[in-house]
Amino acid sequence: MARRDFIWGVATASYQIEGAVRADGRLPSIWDTFSAEPGKVLHSDTGEVACDHYHRWESDVDLIASLGVDAYRLSIAWPRVMDEKGRPNRRGLDFYKRLLDRLAAKGLRRFVTLYHWDLPQHLEDRGGWLNRDTAYRFSEYVDLVSREYEGQVDAWATLNEPWCSAYLGYGIGHHAPGLANIRYATQAMHHLLLGHGLALPALERNDPRAKRGIVANVGRGTTDRNTPADCEAARLYELQHNDWVLGPLLKGEYPAGLFDTLWPGSLPLVLPGDMEIIGRPIDFLGINYYFRSNLRSDGAHGFQDVPLEGVERTQMGWEVYPQGLQDLLVGFKARYANLPPIYITENGIASDDQVVDGEVDDSQRISFLNRHFAAVANAMDAGVDVRGYYVWSLMDNFEWAFGYERRFGLVHINYATQARTLKRSAKALRAFLAEREKT
Ligand code: FCB
Repeated sequence: MARRDFIWGVATASYQIEGAVRADGRLPSIWDTFSAEPGKVLHSDTGEVACDHYHRWESDVDLIASLGVDAYRLSIAWPRVMDEKGRPNRRGLDFYKRLLDRLAAKGLRRFVTLYHWDLPQHLEDRGGWLNRDTAYRFSEYVDLVSREYEGQVDAWATLNEPWCSAYLGYGIGHHAPGLANIRYATQAMHHLLLGHGLALPALERNDPRAKRGIVANVGRGTTDRNTPADCEAARLYELQHNDWVLGPLLKGEYPAGLFDTLWPGSLPLVLPGDMEIIGRPIDFLGINYYFRSNLRSDGAHGFQDVPLEGVERTQMGWEVYPQGLQDLLVGFKARYANLPPIYITENGIASDDQVVDGEVDDSQRISFLNRHFAAVANAMDAGVDVRGYYVWSLMDNFEWAFGYERRFGLVHINYATQARTLKRSAKALRAFLAEREKT
């Protein structure tokens, strides 16, 4: 595809930036509950105020436009727009309406994620994603929102990173709702994916011109020991991280080895017809990529993560490994015959950024982004259809279980004053995009 049509954007998510958790009839989400529990989030941070985007959205849109990007990826908070009985909450809906309008007025494309982890707490109280009914509630929410914003959205993504929702939220308890049982994780995943598939016809019916897809986090797993058992460990890691999600979506089946070799006895309850619903065609696949892991056999049928020494890492401790993005993209194209066009919907780093004399010198971020842009270009040269790239994130925000300590933004946030300061990386991106305009 023509590179001049390539879309450059920045991304955020509702709970991470909005704050105003009780404003205009918003209901509690599982992240309000989880972050209020002692010990769950670093420094006991919560999303109560976050970047106060709910009140600062107008100037934040101006900020986005000032970067010279083509598009903005945001998410809608389900608990803002629907009440417990499934009725629309007009004040919540109006917030996003105004936001989408202003983005359009600034010439920005709108990439909207429908579920970036803020499940209404009242649904969790009825079992959350362990309850099949939640998939149906999700499709009703999507029906409402897509009717409401018809024609105002360029691309709809049903879910952000179902792997994190299912595994981190229900499998090991690092994320809300904080449950820890692998059987829960596999069942939650199934219902998340079912919700995705059930929502697609509503999107098609209500907003036929918008693109429809889903966003998956993917991980690169390699091994520093070349024994067959260690190579198998690396393969299982990628199976668990990537194919657990992509298999059902793109092949209509869970990958072999997952519910027997890796997690024996963890088969979810799958009703007849479910896999067809989950495998419904999509217009695009969003890929979120951050790092590589080094795996070795755990001596049984699994893998253990053995961090490599002497490699470059970010504030998260994640290895900087751009080649991994290229390898994964090329690998997916080989493995999935019907791989849809791809958007890199998240990529970026956390760094311990500070404002010094009005400047934030985040040179590691600039270097990281440049190397990952090159990796994407290489994958495109190798024939992978990548249509766009969104930096995670527009601004520093509530980094889930790590709270505000980890700073992923192109824009620095002073949480005491809510001052926004463009980091050097933001200025570098702006210069890079301005250069593109000239060619
Ligand atoms: C992804 C999430 C996103 C952000 C980045 C760092 O897993 O989708 O919200 O927290 O990680």
